[in-house]
Amino acid sequence: MMRWMVAPMLVLVSACQLDNDIWAVDPVDEDDEAAGAGEARDDIDVDDMGEDDSADADPQLVAQLQAVVDQQNLSTIDPAPAVSDDLYALGQLLAFDKILSGNGDIACMTCHHPTLASGDARSLSIGAGGSGLGADRVHPTDTRIARHAPALFNLHDLDTLFWDGRVEADRRGLDTPAGGEIDAGMEDTLEYGAVAAQAMFPVTSAAEMRGDAGNELAGYADDDFTEIWAGLMTRLGDIDEYVERFEDAYPGEDFEDMTFAHAANAIGAFEVSAFESDGSPWDRFLAGDTDAMSDAQLRGASLFFGPARCVVCHSGDSLTDENFHNIGLPQIGPGIVDGEDLGREEATGAPQDRFRFRTPPLRNVALTAPYGHAGQFAELEDFIAHYDDPQQSLVTYDASQLEPVLQDQVTDNADEVLATLAPQLRGIDLRGGDVADLVAFMEALTDPAAEDMDDLIPDAVPSGLPVDD
Ligand code: HEC
Ligand code: HEC
Repeated sequence: MMRWMVAPMLVLVSACQLDNDIWAVDPVDEDDEAAGAGEARDDIDVDDMGEDDSADADPQLVAQLQAVVDQQNLSTIDPAPAVSDDLYALGQLLAFDKILSGNGDIACMTCHHPTLASGDARSLSIGAGGSGLGADRVHPTDTRIARHAPALFNLHDLDTLFWDGRVEADRRGLDTPAGGEIDAGMEDTLEYGAVAAQAMFPVTSAAEMRGDAGNELAGYADDDFTEIWAGLMTRLGDIDEYVERFEDAYPGEDFEDMTFAHAANAIGAFEVSAFESDGSPWDRFLAGDTDAMSDAQLRGASLFFGPARCVVCHSGDSLTDENFHNIGLPQIGPGIVDGEDLGREEATGAPQDRFRFRTPPLRNVALTAPYGHAGQFAELEDFIAHYDDPQQSLVTYDASQLEPVLQDQVTDNADEVLATLAPQLRGIDLRGGDVADLVAFMEALTDPAAEDMDDLIPDAVPSGLPVDD
């Protein structure tokens, strides 16, 4: 859908709805639903929740949201592209196989695990040299990756990846940190676009996967892309099952003529199939099921696309404009350079991009705490409350919600961050039960299928290395 259509239409919607009953909070209802939303956070069976509450779904709330959907032309996410069984199987094995890490100690799925809603449930990820999974993962020197690991849902719908958007696909092709080292042939191989190209990069990072000692790839710099990719193909070529599986996945091509783009493309194919997510109450509402959402969820949606102005940035089918904004979050952890993470500026070098991060998509967001580019907020409720007064929220940030090792790694740079705060935030004014209703809408974005993805974990991988499960 055409994202740029949304902004002008929003003006229309909020102008005509600002003073109508979206704002008229019924005190009885508010108490009911605030309690309901609290229950929902504990009881993650959103499917049941929707059905229970829908028994008394207020037809007026349904009609009001339906009008917003029609006016803004909101729609479900386009289906993921088809993937052959052989390509999927290869990608799945590669995504779980620690053979792609320097010292055989970490796989893609270690940080994007199916049991953790394709994330790692940590503020900042633990990379090469660590052990364990999720909350139990530890590192001998307590080292953290600079950013939070995003979830991987519906990546076929995104063209701009990473918090700073350094991997992008557009009509002219791919724009990545590797430049021409992804040559025309490799670009042709990366048929799933940005998500396929993205998988070329974690393997090159010493901190994330490659390690800085103890293996044949450790001597390279992070940007010796061509050498690292060739080294990984040599490794994979030494395992007969992989040679066979690559040749099955790419019929008519010999393994010896393949590049790491073939591996990355298979991983991308696995990701777009495995993490496609279209079964949330919101998706069902969009598909015409007017009973899919509770009253609080309906109110939250009308706020989100109306007076609360979330849709100014969380636009489009995936609820992201794929653009970059500074919403005033604290800097936590090691940063990219000198303890700071400049966000989009890290990718563009442009000072006006300082502290801007890509608007995240929101499907299954209730399953993917903590929140923000450095996992700054433990609770959705607190993240959304931040929008009411970002300045106040930033200077009174409560570091006790972080794991102990990060609590004294909060950089004192609030003035610098606030200097470039997104102007779009000025119009946001949350009242009464708005935060609870918006949280309820975030919960309406949960696909029950995303709560149980254990069947994505293979029993074993061709290298014979242990699989995280
Ligand atoms: C050490 C943990 C870790 C490992 C291992 C890891 N990732 Fe990630 N992943 C992250 C973090 C952290 C980010 C965000 C980095 C950034 O934005 O700069 C990320 C970002 C991504 C994104 C971008 C999502 C988005 O919405 O922009 C994708 C896709 C992804 N990883 C897939 C992979 C694949 C495929 C592999 C293996 C080849 C992998 N990851 C290995 C932690 C990890
Ligand atoms: C100015 C653009 C903008 C507006 C308006 C906006 N957001 Fe965001 N949102 C972002 C960006 C950018 C991030 C990521 C920021 C970061 O990590 O530095 C984000 C992050 C989030 C997250 C955390 C997601 C995650 O996976 O970490 C939630 C939840 C969220 N927004 C909900 C909302 C709601 C609800 C509203 C309306 C009250 C809203 N946003 C308004 C741009 C915006």
